[in-house]
Amino acid sequence: MKKSKRFEVLEKRPIHQDGYVKEWPEVGLIAIGSPNDPAPSIKLENGKVVEMDGKKREDFDFIDTFLADHSINLENTEKAMALDSTDIARMLVDINVSRDEIIKITTSLTAAKLVEVVDKLNVVEMMMALQKMRARKTPANQAHVTNVRDNPVQIAADAAESGIRGFAEMETTVGIVRYAPFNAIAILVGAQTGRPGVLTQCSLEEATELKLGMLGFTAYAETISVYGTENVFVDGDDTPYSKTFLASAYASRGLKMRFTSGTGSEVQMGYAEGKSMLYLEARCIMMTKGAGVQGLQNGSVSCIGVPAAVPGGIRAVLGENLITEMLDLEVASSNDQTFTHSDIRKTARTMMQFLPGTDFICSGYSSTPNYDNMFAGSNWDAEDYDDWIVLQRDLKVDGGLQPAKEEDVVAARNKAARAMQALFRELGLPAITDEEVEAATYAHGSKDMPARNVVEDLKAAQELLSRGTTGLDIVKGLYKGGFTDIAENVLNILRQRIAGDYLHASSIFDNKFNVISAVNDKNDYMGPGTGYRVEGERWNKLKDITFALDPEKM
Ligand code: 5AD
Ligand code: CA
Repeated sequence: MKKSKRFEVLEKRPIHQDGYVKEWPEVGLIAIGSPNDPAPSIKLENGKVVEMDGKKREDFDFIDTFLADHSINLENTEKAMALDSTDIARMLVDINVSRDEIIKITTSLTAAKLVEVVDKLNVVEMMMALQKMRARKTPANQAHVTNVRDNPVQIAADAAESGIRGFAEMETTVGIVRYAPFNAIAILVGAQTGRPGVLTQCSLEEATELKLGMLGFTAYAETISVYGTENVFVDGDDTPYSKTFLASAYASRGLKMRFTSGTGSEVQMGYAEGKSMLYLEARCIMMTKGAGVQGLQNGSVSCIGVPAAVPGGIRAVLGENLITEMLDLEVASSNDQTFTHSDIRKTARTMMQFLPGTDFICSGYSSTPNYDNMFAGSNWDAEDYDDWIVLQRDLKVDGGLQPAKEEDVVAARNKAARAMQALFRELGLPAITDEEVEAATYAHGSKDMPARNVVEDLKAAQELLSRGTTGLDIVKGLYKGGFTDIAENVLNILRQRIAGDYLHASSIFDNKFNVISAVNDKNDYMGPGTGYRVEGERWNKLKDITFALDPEKM
């Protein structure tokens, strides 16, 4: 066939480097409405669910049993399930119906019914619903802080910068597992340097992650995965009950935590049972509710390539964020793992959460260039900061970040690096040189950092744990090292664990360690004139980009 020059050009566009597949329900490659999805139903006998979504209790798998016993408000379920799905969908976008009124209904529904309701909405209606249904009134954002070499000085500097740029939560992970204690300490110290009150975590294998939390190296946990089919759980030697037990362990030490799930995981693991992605995800969201966990990181997250490949997939991803809010849970709404070569597509996908606002719009905006992102790259990275703040300014939308001055960023990075230098000295860890401090102050990424002695670092990181070092030793080290203000902030993070106030749904701290949560900052959106508005001091800050012409200086 003779080639069209038009098609030749189109085929060279970045969008053509992404993968697409036609719907294939047998393996679960369908966003919503697989022919194998059950129809909504509920039957109770003596206050117990005997049938759910067309299945009898004797045929339940362990997820069905868990959901039927723990995840549905049984007092109201028969009434709520009898409502017309279109009517419930209309309530979601009706500014005259309050969030509270809707929550009573939506927490009484089955997975199939939740999906049926959400499927009545187009994406604009879903965004309207998202704006009303999110738990916390004030939106926020979460950063990834990692680098390919697990360099702790760079992690601290990047975390400090992220604090200045406005992130409320930050997470790190590891390239080499044995680096974990250093990474956790580095992000903690860096974050408390940049902005007091930022919550930090280190994503690891579950036992190690819990241990670091209990030692006081981290303030929250998030990557406790749940899945929508029994076989995927069994593959990981887990059940909804074991995950719930793990959740209780975090709560017992006053640590904030949320689960993680998302469309596509069951397809990727080969056990989707021919069900649609959103139906399986609705089960995960309900499981989170039933476990008593306050929130969920979802929106496909690391599996985003799967829903993104099928028709309506990105709409389904928005749908899962919405169902999370409909169950009165905090939502950290993904926009993390990179999934496309196209800047147009990447932005369109994010506008679904950016415009209405969620508890955490990105649950992993890369604070480094993507080559340093150890979560396999993020949809947004450090090179997009100015794009993000211009989008906020253009649309008068709070995307959780703010313009930063170069001198403030440089100063914070330098202070965090020096604090790490002093802390390592006080704790008897391998020295951090002045050269490293200088490099971390001005670095864009790990390519700008001198190499550390990895063998020595890893040995010291393990010794740190065997010596029984805790968060209090970090406080003491910072204090003795002359960084009393950072010591105070780290101590405050530890004190909050005892107060327990940040176990409330959707909690973050302001820079005086006051909790901002769904309890004292409840989303009260009911149309124009209500809910979160970008105004006053915040608008002054958001619009003040450093690279705009200033008539007063002309
Ligand atoms: N389902 C379940 N867990 C997920 N994670 C990411 N995406 C999903 C998903 N769709 C969790 C995994 C991963 C971490 C980054 O988050 O635990 O390691
Ligand atoms: Ca995250």
